[in-house]
Amino acid sequence: MITDDMRSCFDREVAKYPADQKQSAVMACLAIVQQQEGWVSPESEKEVAAYLGMPAIAVHEVTTFYNMYNQRPVGRYKLNVCTNLPCQLRDGQHALRYLEKKLGISMGETTPDGMFTLQQSECLGACADSPVMLVNDRTMCSFMSDEKLDQLIDGLRSAEGAK
Ligand code: FES
Repeated sequence: MITDDMRSCFDREVAKYPADQKQSAVMACLAIVQQQEGWVSPESEKEVAAYLGMPAIAVHEVTTFYNMYNQRPVGRYKLNVCTNLPCQLRDGQHALRYLEKKLGISMGETTPDGMFTLQQSECLGACADSPVMLVNDRTMCSFMSDEKLDQLIDGLRSAEGAK
C-alpha cells in the first residue's frame, strides 16, 4: 500500500528525469517501497506501475531481476552470502552451510523468531575478501571465517536482546 509519504518520495525521484521518462525512477521507487514495507508485494508493484505509467509486468521484471528486492517478507536481518564461483573456491559455500547450521534454517528461509533470513547472492564485487556477505543490503562483511560468523550472529542477537 503506497502512502502519501511514499508518494512524495516517488515525486522527488521522478523529478530527476525528463517528464516523458519517469519510468527511469522505477528502481528508486521500488527501493522506497522496500524501505517502508520491508518487501515489495505484487500489489505494491502494481501501484508503482500505475504511478509511473508502465505495465505491471515491466515493474515485476525489475523486482525479480535484482536480488536486493525482497519478493516476500524477510527477517530483521537479511544475510546474503556470496556463493559465486570465485567465492566458492574460497569457502563461500562453507560460510553458507555454517550459517544454515548455526541458525537452524536452510538457505532461503527465515528463523522462527523472525530475526534472520539467509540467502545466497551473486558476486558482491569483493571476491578477494571471500567469504563475503551483505547484511540488509548495505553492510558488507569480509573474510567471514566461522569465528567471525559467530561474532556477527551472536552480536546481533545480543544487541536485539538488549533493546
Ligand atoms: Fe563472491 Fe565476487 S564471487 S564477491
